[in-house]
Amino acid sequence: MCGIVGYVGGQQAAPLLLEGLTRLEHRGYDSAGVAVLGPTGVKVAKRAGRVRQLSEELPKRFAGKLGIGHTRWATHGPANDVNAHPHVDASGEVAVVHNGIIDNAAALRHRLADQGVDLASDTDTEVLAHLVARSGADTLEGKVRDALSAIEGTYGVAVMHADFPDRIVVARNGSPLIIGVGDKEMHVASDLAALVRYTTTIAYLDDGEMATLTAGGFTTYRQDLTSTNKTATTLDIDPSSYDAGDHDSFMHKEMVEQPAAAERVLRGRLDERFGTAHLGGLNMDARETRAIRRVKILGCGSAYYVGQMGAALLEELARIPADAEAASEFRYRNPIIVSDTLYVAVSQSGETIDTLLAVQEIRRKGGRVIGLVNVVGSAIARECDGGIYLHAGPEVAVASTKALTNMFLGFALLALQLGRVRDLSIADGKRLIAGLQQLPGQLAEMLEREDELAAIATSLAEAESLFFVGRVRGFPVAREGAQKFKEISYRHAEAYQTSELKHGPLALISEAVPTVAIVPGDELTDRNVAALHEIAARRGPLVVVTHADVDLGDVEAVRIDVPRNERELDPILLTVPLQLLAYHAALRLGHDIDKPRNLAKSVTVE
Ligand code: AGP
Repeated sequence: MCGIVGYVGGQQAAPLLLEGLTRLEHRGYDSAGVAVLGPTGVKVAKRAGRVRQLSEELPKRFAGKLGIGHTRWATHGPANDVNAHPHVDASGEVAVVHNGIIDNAAALRHRLADQGVDLASDTDTEVLAHLVARSGADTLEGKVRDALSAIEGTYGVAVMHADFPDRIVVARNGSPLIIGVGDKEMHVASDLAALVRYTTTIAYLDDGEMATLTAGGFTTYRQDLTSTNKTATTLDIDPSSYDAGDHDSFMHKEMVEQPAAAERVLRGRLDERFGTAHLGGLNMDARETRAIRRVKILGCGSAYYVGQMGAALLEELARIPADAEAASEFRYRNPIIVSDTLYVAVSQSGETIDTLLAVQEIRRKGGRVIGLVNVVGSAIARECDGGIYLHAGPEVAVASTKALTNMFLGFALLALQLGRVRDLSIADGKRLIAGLQQLPGQLAEMLEREDELAAIATSLAEAESLFFVGRVRGFPVAREGAQKFKEISYRHAEAYQTSELKHGPLALISEAVPTVAIVPGDELTDRNVAALHEIAARRGPLVVVTHADVDLGDVEAVRIDVPRNERELDPILLTVPLQLLAYHAALRLGHDIDKPRNLAKSVTVE
């Protein structure tokens, strides 16, 4: 979704801003723009389309050592040049970029129009530029504060003003902003990816916090302008982890990184002696853990589907009733929060607004929430009572792969720890640990079979419509497989419980509609194979993701045999080939793998 960058220092701002915007492209956007403050005042260049087009068409004279930039994902008004950010006031002296949504924008627009202000765009953001310009305060900090006090909603905002040529003022309420400290220069961005090339010394703004950036440094304060004295810390991150390197896309790179990412999430957390896991970040002792009667898992999209896999793990290993629900639904149904339920929020980005608001709702009602989150220090991570960091490393592609794998492993660790303070035997704990230790190698084994999967994907890419089916443990795998496939191939991919086929979808099976069936070798294999016969009898082409020792009888099918592990851990090994199928189908169809149409990496608006 929308991205913000800003720069003040000794260099020309425009190239740095454009480079930063390029690094935010993966978040999803439909227009882009930059503003710089030079000797002749504020200059703005913005347009619908890609950052590359904006760069190519940048006016020759676009000098200035201070500037702000934005990638927009349309909410108020269509994606066009006028609605792109930055927005300026009537005099063109104030420029503003904004992420989030101003809920009372309509009322403010009317009020400004009544006061004779001509609004150029359809956006909510433009009101901010006019409000800043019309404030009577004598500092930029005071003007921004006045403007923000008039608005209701969420924002990450950056403001520059021709009368205050040495500074950018930024503010956060619900939309992330990170300050990057350079050598006699300062950066700001909504995502670390835009900063790491320049600096890894950073400070995260909190909700309700503002900051002033000058070439010499930054100060932070609350909206009443009292200081919060925030200091920067240097992160231990490798800036090259934000580059695709030799891979044709971030998605490919991130799939290949899965074995190493899996090792990281397990590292130091397995206790072989007692057959358990150690998750210090949960902030719960054994007595509190034993008191849990239910687990409710909340996430969106793939994080929701892996939550379903996690619920199965918790029920099987810890014997605690558990279920997963889409956070985007949960928060709208006035949920009943129960004190002996453990709520688990799952999110790669830690920014997804529906998941964040669900967490806030639970905590408001006194519930305990832990987070399974990848991005350290993100909003959801900070909002939770405790959690498990996923250590997958930066995930840039919209299609989540390595973070999802680590979410599954996070759930396995949680189920192991909860199980061992309840009824899971030490022998079963050790069995699971041995399985987890084997997993990174098995993920690597699966990834080495990319050519085989590419060939299968080529045939699937031809179909306009596909089914992904699975039963019990296999159903969330099918949902995730369909999700990945539709996200980047734009084919209609629908997931169904294998057991439900006869209750409707079988009517659609034909030569033109392939089915990808999840058939692990487990207690349900026979039932699954029976369903394959029903599909084959209707001439439905079949791709079966299974284990080598599973006998499919005389069913005509393309098999993908995945390595065997403990049956509880099967879902993640069954998922990885589906990532590769989706990736190669999208490649075959010539799609932009990392930037699928209409989608954003982090869904930060409601
Ligand atoms: C995954 O491939 C999707 N891009 C999407 O469903 C994603 O999982 C969802 O938007 C949740 O994101 P989060 O993990 O950052 O909260």
